[in-house]
Amino acid sequence: MQNHVAKFSRVGFILSAAGAAVGLGNIWKFPYITGVYGGGAFVMVYLVTILLIGVSLLIAEMLMGKRGGADAVSNFQTEAPKGSSWAWTKAGYLFVIGLIIMTFYSVVIGWIFYYLYVAVTGLPTSQKEAEDVFNALYSNAPYLQMALHTLSVVIVGVVLVRGVKNGIEKVNVVLIPMLILILLGLMFYSMGYDSFGKALSFMFNPDFSKLSGEAIIRAVGHSFFTLSIGIGSIMAYAASLPKHTNIFQAGLWVAFLDTFIALLAGVVIFSFLFQFGGEPAKGPGLVFMSLPVIFSQLGGIGIVIALLFFLGLAFAGLTSAISLVEPTVMYLERRWSFSKGGAVFWSSLLYFAVGILVILSISDGFKESFTIGGKPLFDALEFAVDSFLMPLGGILIALFVGFAMKRDIVEGELLGHMGNTVFKIWYFSIRFIAPLAVLFLAYNALKM
Ligand code: PFF
Repeated sequence: MQNHVAKFSRVGFILSAAGAAVGLGNIWKFPYITGVYGGGAFVMVYLVTILLIGVSLLIAEMLMGKRGGADAVSNFQTEAPKGSSWAWTKAGYLFVIGLIIMTFYSVVIGWIFYYLYVAVTGLPTSQKEAEDVFNALYSNAPYLQMALHTLSVVIVGVVLVRGVKNGIEKVNVVLIPMLILILLGLMFYSMGYDSFGKALSFMFNPDFSKLSGEAIIRAVGHSFFTLSIGIGSIMAYAASLPKHTNIFQAGLWVAFLDTFIALLAGVVIFSFLFQFGGEPAKGPGLVFMSLPVIFSQLGGIGIVIALLFFLGLAFAGLTSAISLVEPTVMYLERRWSFSKGGAVFWSSLLYFAVGILVILSISDGFKESFTIGGKPLFDALEFAVDSFLMPLGGILIALFVGFAMKRDIVEGELLGHMGNTVFKIWYFSIRFIAPLAVLFLAYNALKM
C-alpha cells in the first residue's frame, strides 16, 4: 500500500465519510426537489430507499474499499475470485461519475461564494428582490459564474494536493457540527412562525396522488446522490481504514447524519418560504431565494447568520467535492503513476472545462446551443447522474459484493459487528433487493 494516504481514525473516518455525504445534496438539492415533486410522498420514498437500499450499499462500498485498500479499478480486480468470469475489470471506472457530478457541483459552489458576498453587501429584503438577485446570477452572469467556478476548482485542487487526511479530516470535524448547530438554531427560530406546522405537513404528510413515476425515480436517485454511493468516493476513503473498523456502525452513522441534516434543512427552508409567501417548486434557486430574505429581516445578526450559513454550506459542498475528485486522483496515481500534483491537475482540468459549458447552458444568449434532449446541459447532467449513473454504479457494487466476492470473506468483515439476523437481511438486500429495485427504476427512467 502506498503511503500517500495515512490511515483514518475511527471518528475521523465517520466524519470524513459524513463530510462526503453531507453536501449540497442535503441543503441545496433535497429541499428543491422535494418542492418540485410535491413534498411528503416524495420524502417518504426517499426515506424508505435510504433504509432499504442506501444503507446496505453504503456498507457494501465501505467493505470493498476497506478490503481492497486501493482505487476502484484495482479493488474490482483484486477482490474478485481468481478466474471469475465477470467483466469486473471495467466496473471500477465508475469513479468517472464523480467528475461528471463536479461539472455542475462546482458551479453551484460558485453560487454559494457569491452569496457570501451578497450577505456582506446587502441581503435582498423581499421575495421579489431575492428572486431578481438569483436570476441575475443564474441566467445573466456567465463570466462571474466562470470566475467563481474557477475559484472552487482551485480550492478543491489545493486541498486534494495536500492530501485528504490532514486537510479534510480536520475541516470536517469542525464544520459538520457547526453546520448542524446553525441549522438547529434556524429551526428553533422558525418554530415561532405559523408556517412551521405547514412546513412539517408539507414534508411529512404524504399525498400519494402527487407521486409521479418521475418523482419516484428522482427520490431513489437522490438517495444515492445524498449518501455518495455508487461512484467509489466512499470506497476511496474506506481504502484508508484501519483493520478493525466497524463499518456497519460507520455506515449507520453516516446515513443517519446525512438524513438528519437533509430533513432539518428542508423543515427550515419550507417554514421560511411559506411564511413569506414563496413557492416551493422553484427549482435550483430555492435555497438562494428563500433564506436570504429571512436573514435580512433579522437585522445585524442576520448578516452574521447568513455568513455562517453560506460558509457552512460552502464547506459542506467543498468537502463533498473533494470526495468526488479523490477517486480519480487515486486512480491516476496508483494505476498510471501520476504525481499527486499531475493527477489533481488533469482531473480538475477535465471537469473545469465541461463546467464552463454547463454555465453557458443556463446563460441567456448561449443556452440555446447547449441543450440535450430539450434540457439545458446543467439539468441533463444532473438528471443523468441521479437516474442512471449513480444507480448503475450502485448496482455494480451490489452485485460484486453480493455475488462475485466469496461469502465467507464478506461474512468475516461484517458478521461480528452485525450479528446473524441483521447480516442475513443485509446480504439479501445487497444480492436481490438493491439490484432489482435499481434495474426496475433504470428501466422506467429509460422509458421517460
Ligand atoms: N453526497 C453529496 C451531496 O449530497 O451533496 C454529493 C456526492 C458526493 C455524491 C460524493 C457522490 C459522491 F461520491
